Amino acid sequence: MTTQIDSTQPGAVFDSSKITVIYVLGGPGAGKGTQCAYLVEDFGFCHLSAGDLLRAEQNREGSQYGELIRTYIREGTIVPMHVTIKLLENAMTEALKEKEGKNIEGWADGKGRFLIDGFPRKMDQAIEFDRTVCLSSKVLFFSTTEEVMLGRLLERGKTSGREDDNIESIKKRFRTYENDTMPVIQYYASQDKVAQIDSTVTIEEVHNAARETVQKLFSEKQ
Ligand code: C5P
Ligand code: MG
Repeated sequence: MTTQIDSTQPGAVFDSSKITVIYVLGGPGAGKGTQCAYLVEDFGFCHLSAGDLLRAEQNREGSQYGELIRTYIREGTIVPMHVTIKLLENAMTEALKEKEGKNIEGWADGKGRFLIDGFPRKMDQAIEFDRTVCLSSKVLFFSTTEEVMLGRLLERGKTSGREDDNIESIKKRFRTYENDTMPVIQYYASQDKVAQIDSTVTIEEVHNAARETVQKLFSEKQ
């Protein structure tokens, strides 16, 4: 692994003055994935869903983590952080390689922009990723009620094929979210890094609010 020196976070793999990392949080079913897809269109982000990366690793033939990941996902608990962080770091390296020299907005001269969706779900992940991979710039926090999230997840469960879109797993995921993820949101809120967006309203309204937040961040960064 080559280690670039980051002016703000010495020892991190990626320099946060060039690589913008936005964490996307919110309870299960809050609309994180849906909104990320829009923001990719708007700003040319690379969208990395921690859950999707874990599911891909779970299904990868020969993975030493397959069974472990399956158990954690079914129980709605958080996979040990080193697994998820390594998957994210590898995916970031790949995206930077893939977009290099293609003259894509936001990706010239070693720059890049990432939406890291469903991460960090627990304090240890937050501290470790910021310190060793890339210091994050912002948290988009999509918030709505459990009732709304439950309705969306059960609807999604009809077609998602996800082993955890059933009522037992969903209840466990809600509990994990309250216990493990809310403290992460509070931690970043105390650093003034959180943009809270009500995701009870229509997809379009949520998208407008999210787009404005990101626009503001990029105009401040330049
Ligand atoms: O974000 P998503 O709902 O796809 O995540 C599905 C599951 O993947 C979570 O309930 C959890 O078990 C696992 N996960 C994790 N750490 C993350 C993101 C997801 O352990 N940062
Ligand atoms: Mg998702």
